Amino acid sequence: MAGKTHITTTINGERTDFLCEPRDSLLDVLRENLQLYGAKEGCNNGNCGACNVVMDGRLVNSCCVLAVESAGCEIETIEGVGEPDKLHPLQQSFLENAALQCGICTPGFIIAAKALLEQNPDPSEHEIRWWLAGNLCRCTGYDKIIRAVQDAAARMREEA
Ligand code: FES
Ligand code: FES
Repeated sequence: MAGKTHITTTINGERTDFLCEPRDSLLDVLRENLQLYGAKEGCNNGNCGACNVVMDGRLVNSCCVLAVESAGCEIETIEGVGEPDKLHPLQQSFLENAALQCGICTPGFIIAAKALLEQNPDPSEHEIRWWLAGNLCRCTGYDKIIRAVQDAAARMREEA
């Protein structure tokens, strides 16, 4: 294991240990070491948001975070959002609004939208579009995604 660094972090509430090389990105480790395939590799350079995770309360592109930087951090990935038999309101709204086609971008959109709604439960359409400007989708044309986030926000306000 020469050259590898032992990292301890918390992922979706569970203490997680892994070995990584200094050059490995957090996205590399999530997918290759930890078999958490929800975060996707789109551009691998910070432009598409498909790899979004939340790290210590901050939305980040995991392709642009070194895995060693996650030491001691709390990380939330799409695998920590909802349950198969109890979807998060955003997941439910994406389904009901048909806000996905190929689905590659969807985990990133949901993680990003969740981060938005946690700090602004009643965003305007403009605020949603602005917040999600770092998430690219090649299939849907965005309108259904925005509607899904609006619907989820309304649902979450009712449930609060
Ligand atoms: S894969 Fe990370 S921003 Fe595109
Ligand atoms: S649904 Fe295909 S890229 Fe967004």
